[in-house]
Amino acid sequence: MTSGMDNLRYTKLPLNNGSGEIPTLGFGTLIPDPNDTKRATKVALEVGFRQLDSAERYRNEVQVGEAMQEVFSGGTIRRQEVFLGTKLWNNNHRPERVKPAFEASLKRLHLDYADLYLVHTPYAFQAGDEQDPRDGNGNVIYDDGVTLYDTWRAMEGLVDDGRCKAIGLSDVNLEQLKEIVRLARIKPAVVQVESHPYLPQWDLLDFCQKNGIVLLAFAALGHSFEPRLLDDPVITAIAMRLNKTPAQVLLAWALQRGTALLTTSKTPSRIRENFDISTLPQEAMVEIREKIKTRYRFNKVVETGIPGFIPRGR
Ligand SMILES: NC(=O)c1ccc[n+]([C@@H]2O[C@H](COP(=O)([O-])OP(=O)(O)OC[C@H]3O[C@@H](n4cnc5c(N)ncnc54)[C@H](OP(=O)(O)O)[C@@H]3O)[C@@H](O)[C@H]2O)c1
Repeated sequence: MTSGMDNLRYTKLPLNNGSGEIPTLGFGTLIPDPNDTKRATKVALEVGFRQLDSAERYRNEVQVGEAMQEVFSGGTIRRQEVFLGTKLWNNNHRPERVKPAFEASLKRLHLDYADLYLVHTPYAFQAGDEQDPRDGNGNVIYDDGVTLYDTWRAMEGLVDDGRCKAIGLSDVNLEQLKEIVRLARIKPAVVQVESHPYLPQWDLLDFCQKNGIVLLAFAALGHSFEPRLLDDPVITAIAMRLNKTPAQVLLAWALQRGTALLTTSKTPSRIRENFDISTLPQEAMVEIREKIKTRYRFNKVVETGIPGFIPRGR
């Protein structure tokens, strides 16, 4: 289905640490198969997405990098037009590990700078090269010798060095965010958390907006898990009425309430559909906020630091 003509899909939000703006409609690259990841990332750039999200934990930076290189070498899209973010994993929270981890990500991505670097979760795991360190009983080994603020100071150093334009946090709650904002020399520019109509996080959004921080909402379509947000009767009724798809309604809602977002698909027709969005009437925004009562968090990563959407063993 096609949308009307407006500029919603090209919205950008300013970043507080002087590093420019973030295109709000973002493409997430957490796709299980590496060949799909590369193909989908290329399609995403070709249909118009200008913000990409990767992570060392996804083990896909090489494929995302190759996709970008191939598209850039085609000559129609330049590196400077694309906003690329990646993330520091939990086994690299010790300050002395932060810069080497960041440099290794850039190398895998074939880039000489990143637009955004996030601390993937507030949980420090045992320092070392194992991303999923476990004891004999299968329990994660945490590292209580490093605080989130210790890690944050090393992140600030990356901005000073100039190869990382902006820094932020992910999978934090409001209290953790407030603490870093209070202590930081360079405030987080972006906070990436799960958010959609079943987990609107209005308090966090309010705090972010008052402090010039962009909330980057992941699982904008509810990861297409049960309970299926894409089949929610409020969403499907609005979609029908406006001649849009449920995904287009959910993505427009996220941008119109002032967040940036990440959505993911390995399917070219859906990638195109997800970029082809336009502004919802105000009544639809109110309806989604007031009529949807379901509350659900799909990703438990915020409770343990263990990624919910990445199969173990990867
Ligand atoms: N910070 C964190 O801890 C964290 C955690 C999770 C995710 N993330 C990031 O956020 C990104 C987005 O998260 P997500 O994967 O949950 O995204 P999502 O967009 O909510 O869900 C993706 C799922 O929805 C399906 N889908 C996509 N477009 C659709 C459409 N138009 N109609 C119907 N189904 C559609 C996809 O299927 P097909 O692929 O089969 O088309 C896929 O199964 C990830 O890639 C990652 O970059 C971050």
